[in-house]
Amino acid sequence: MIIRPVREEDAASLQQNCFSANTFEQTAAMIPPAIDGLEHGESAMLVAEENGDVLGTCTVERLAHRMCRHRADIVGFVITPAAQGTGLARKLVDAANQRARDWGCSILEISCRGGTHAEDAYRGLGFRVWGRLPEGYRDRDQTFDEVLLWKPISPG
Ligand SMILES: CC(C)(COP(=O)(O)OP(=O)(O)OC[C@H]1O[C@@H](n2cnc3c(N)ncnc32)[C@H](O)[C@@H]1OP(=O)(O)O)[C@@H](O)C(=O)NCCC(=O)NCCS
Repeated sequence: MIIRPVREEDAASLQQNCFSANTFEQTAAMIPPAIDGLEHGESAMLVAEENGDVLGTCTVERLAHRMCRHRADIVGFVITPAAQGTGLARKLVDAANQRARDWGCSILEISCRGGTHAEDAYRGLGFRVWGRLPEGYRDRDQTFDEVLLWKPISPG
């Protein structure tokens, strides 16, 4: 299993395993801007790949505001259900952490719906809650708090 930047040829596996609510076309369309962000910007869409299958992904982005350049945010974090709880989440966060450190960031951020497994997993990965917006998410007949978490990036 390796953690690496996303490639064009990942589209089908990424859609099937991680973004099954999206179409293949929607998933494929995410990849060129992600590659451009890696080459010319300060974002990195990472995948966990095993034998050609994408089992997980996250994107780490450095904040653009001049007063927030020391912060990076993890978004689009998904581990395929069969691979959850196997340590992939930690490997992806470690790789995101390394990217953010290379940009000179000192704070890594992430967010999720409160009360879900993601909140437990992010705490388990060392993130601490700094904000909670009650009923920040509405999903048909359900509401969730929006939970904001952070952890320090240790210097390399
Ligand atoms: C959120 C998600 C990416 C987390 O990945 P995961 O594989 O399920 O995470 P894990 O269960 O391995 O948990 C991560 C760590 O937290 C720990 N952990 C999990 N639940 C815990 C709990 N209740 N208490 C303490 N630690 C806990 C795990 O042991 C693990 O630590 P380890 O690497 O030392 O074993 C994954 O569940 C997922 O893709 N969910 C669906 C999509 C989603 O909700 N994405 C988030 C959108 S914000």
